[in-house]
Amino acid sequence: VHKSSVYLPPELKERLASVAARSGRSEADLIRTAIDHLVGVADAPRHDEAATHLDAPRPCLFGVGMGPGDPDLVTLRARRVIAGADRVLVLTTDARSVGRAEMTVRATAAQARLARVPFAIGADETARRHSLAAAVDAVLAGTDAGEVVALALLGDPSQWTVFGAVADELRRQRPDLHVEAVAGLTAYQSAAAETGVALGAPGSPLVVVDNADDLDTFLDRADATVVLFKASTDAATLQQLARAHHRPGIVTELPGLPGHRSTAVSELSDGPLPYLATAVFPATSDVRSSTR
Ligand SMILES: C[S@@+](CC[C@H](N)C(=O)[O-])C[C@H]1O[C@@H](n2cnc3c(N)ncnc32)[C@H](O)[C@@H]1O
Repeated sequence: VHKSSVYLPPELKERLASVAARSGRSEADLIRTAIDHLVGVADAPRHDEAATHLDAPRPCLFGVGMGPGDPDLVTLRARRVIAGADRVLVLTTDARSVGRAEMTVRATAAQARLARVPFAIGADETARRHSLAAAVDAVLAGTDAGEVVALALLGDPSQWTVFGAVADELRRQRPDLHVEAVAGLTAYQSAAAETGVALGAPGSPLVVVDNADDLDTFLDRADATVVLFKASTDAATLQQLARAHHRPGIVTELPGLPGHRSTAVSELSDGPLPYLATAVFPATSDVRSSTR
């Protein structure tokens, strides 16, 4: 241990204290990190990182897609970022509950330095705005201390997640911060693979909607594969839509997790679908023959 005293001007001392308080790290730890950066030690692989060494600018934020929840479906890139990040943020509706994204992170990198960020996913606009501000603050608590921060999200970060809104706000508050997305597999890709459904074909659109009203609009196109995400509806509504449009569909719940199953829409039991359910209605007219 090399001991030395360093004079810090009062303003720098204050800023150091503020970053330490917000990041939850000690001032000594931050000073060590700063010196590491200056002399290049922080860029060398740490402990067991030969396999997981992460080449990333510091500070930065990665929005990491963790796939549908099965650790087998996490990409090598996502694994490396999660294992190499200084802190991994996961959103949760309840601070005491381990959500699906967090479970996947734990299964992928047991030692990840996790922090739960409460998030209101309901329709209340004000609550969502506050949640977004809290998520941005949680990112800044790490990046302002020079860290590589990962925001772990189910599926793909660019589809129905808060990552876009967080990135926009960060661009406003810290225009120089490096922000990057790591793509992930979506639940509908996994559901289609498992049930042998083609999601797209030449001349045949793939439409992904997030509510039953839009489903009603798009099921009319027999040449389109239609996916329902955020299936905040019930079995009877899906069955009625499927009958009205003569479209058989499949609902997959919790792919790769305990309780995982795929059920034909016509066979669903009564009641609301779980949050982690995805419905896929394959195209019923084959446009491929007419486009060749
Ligand atoms: C907030 S969106 C997140 C989407 C995610 N970013 C993605 O690309 O898959 C949540 C919706 O994604 C779908 N979903 C995500 N993970 C799932 C899973 N493991 N099983 C079934 N559906 C899932 C469900 O429709 C759920 O309501």
